[in-house]
Amino acid sequence: TKVAVLISGTGTNLQALMEQTKKPSSSAEIVVVISNRPGVLGLKRASMAGIQTRVVDHKLYGSRAEFDSTIDRVLEEFGVELVCLAGFMRILTGPFVRKWNGKLLNIHPSLLPSFKGVNAQKQALLARVRVTGCSVHFVAEEVDAGAIIVQEAVPILTNDTEDSLSERIREAEHRAFPTALELVASGAVRLGEDGHIIWNQSA
Ligand code: GRF
Repeated sequence: TKVAVLISGTGTNLQALMEQTKKPSSSAEIVVVISNRPGVLGLKRASMAGIQTRVVDHKLYGSRAEFDSTIDRVLEEFGVELVCLAGFMRILTGPFVRKWNGKLLNIHPSLLPSFKGVNAQKQALLARVRVTGCSVHFVAEEVDAGAIIVQEAVPILTNDTEDSLSERIREAEHRAFPTALELVASGAVRLGEDGHIIWNQSA
């Protein structure tokens, strides 16, 4: 399965996905990495791994629709079948999400549906919960509300700061995202018409 990874920054999730898809057993091949910001570390990671990169700078577009259609053109150019949003900090428009429905995966640093939106790690600390984590889900038009594919729980320690907790969650992300990508790329999991996950109970 041909995969595109969309990034906005450091790319540690991208790094984990690249390491996973390099394995002979992988059902996925990353064919392009697209960033909405130039010069970010994630682009260097992709280049060092020999993966083609594109920058689609959202500041150069007059509207979200024009930005999204440029992203779409790049995806079509590379024959992409699955898209991973890995620290991609843009909200995608309805038409784009609908076109790629069931083919768009995102990682969020909380156990959805808790703590949607930005600063999910900080929300968990402020809520004084004892467990949080990360979620890989299909992207739906409503932000952080799509069908959940994989989750991993992470303890919150009494002396945790936003940074120490974020680092622990990121380590979980680097396990959860590759796992979710393989499940979808291999066909073990797909998004049903009703918006829920269907597990392929192969005979
Ligand atoms: C991660 O914390 C992820 O939960 C959030 O953005 C961050 C991506 O980090 N969506 P990186 O660019 O993959 O290192």
